[in-house]
Amino acid sequence: MGKDIKNDVVFSLKILSISLTLTKLLSMETIQLKSYKIAFQKQAYQELNALIKNQSYSSIYILVDSNTNALCSKFLSEQLEADVKIEWIEIEPGEEHKTISTCNEIWKTLSETGADRKSLMINLGGGIVTDVGGYAASCFKRGIDFVHVPTTLLGMVDAAIGGKNGVNLDSLKNQIGIIRPPKLILVDVGYLATLPQEEMRSGLAEMLKHGLIDNEEDFFAFEDLSQFEVEKLPELIHDSIQIKTRISEEDPFEKGIRMALNFGHTLGHAIESYHMENPKKTKLLHGEAVAVGMILALKLSVDVLGFDKTTCDRASRVITNYFKKVDFLETDISNIHSYLIHDKKNTAGNINFLLLEAIGKPKINCKVTDEQIIKAFAYYKSL
Ligand SMILES: NC(=O)c1ccc[n+]([C@@H]2O[C@H](COP(=O)([O-])OP(=O)(O)OC[C@H]3O[C@@H](n4cnc5c(N)ncnc54)[C@H](O)[C@@H]3O)[C@@H](O)[C@H]2O)c1
Ligand SMILES: [Zn+2]
Repeated sequence: MGKDIKNDVVFSLKILSISLTLTKLLSMETIQLKSYKIAFQKQAYQELNALIKNQSYSSIYILVDSNTNALCSKFLSEQLEADVKIEWIEIEPGEEHKTISTCNEIWKTLSETGADRKSLMINLGGGIVTDVGGYAASCFKRGIDFVHVPTTLLGMVDAAIGGKNGVNLDSLKNQIGIIRPPKLILVDVGYLATLPQEEMRSGLAEMLKHGLIDNEEDFFAFEDLSQFEVEKLPELIHDSIQIKTRISEEDPFEKGIRMALNFGHTLGHAIESYHMENPKKTKLLHGEAVAVGMILALKLSVDVLGFDKTTCDRASRVITNYFKKVDFLETDISNIHSYLIHDKKNTAGNINFLLLEAIGKPKINCKVTDEQIIKAFAYYKSL
């Protein structure tokens, strides 16, 4: 029964998005940050058009991947009011294309088509398009303006927010990049209407994370699936964006509190890499690995920081409602542990964890023993 309910919920979220696309009635408050705005729905297109007018851009480049070109570009171009040249640049979708060579192609196109320092780049897509586009724009002629228009749930609540842009260096993720804010972030939840369910879940994992590190109410809004009001989703997306912006504005260069955004990701990344590199294992989506990582981190929070055990059980149930359980053998656990040791964030043989004293009370640099990690996996298996 659980599985059907999960699918129903994700399906309902999609239906909601479709109805929003049709009505466009939704209004959500603009988030004003130090150097730019995050605007929503219809109002966001007005902000974009005003920006284009006020900044007198010489030309506009819209970066898409082949999926967002097919599914999202028409709607954006219908909303755009610009009397300058608009060029579309399409890249291949997929993490393997988040590279400097994709940027090279973008830079060549910009150069060959006469882009100058007053050109604007609009990145219409998921986290890959916004990461690549933000970086390519930040380097071209030492930096041109860019706007993010995230079209995935993960893009809206996470990747497009916080000013980090970059590409991978072979298998090393996000090794080359820059922290530079966009001119505007335009969030239109209508784009989610065509997003595959798995991708919805990936974004949901980050929303659950934001709830755990900052706001109990947002987290437990996902608890009772029979009571879950899908109409609340846009509001929850708005809250989630606010949590990420607040944390990243406070600590743009990740010296302290921004590390809270890594909750569930230390073990999550190790689990993700292990499943990716081991041919006998089924590949996990980032969100699926982070979902496991968050449950393990909740249990570690109980054992290391005295986080309330009943809340840990309750929160873990919320997560397993949406994400399938992953099987771990003893050999898997010791292999995952060796991935942890190689994680660049760990210094001098210590594995540093971001844990919680309570929901909304993250604590950085927590030391965890091997036994505690093994116990956390045993807890996960027992759920
Ligand atoms: N910069 C940051 O702070 C930050 C934070 C988190 C994640 N990221 C990065 O984000 C990337 C993942 O982002 P993602 O999950 O959005 O992946 P993605 O960009 O690959 O998008 C997922 C898939 O959905 C497709 N798609 C996008 N919008 C769609 C739509 N509206 N309808 C149908 N299909 C659509 C894409 O073409 C792609 O196939 C990773 O590279 C990750 O490192 C960056
Ligand atoms: Zn993540």
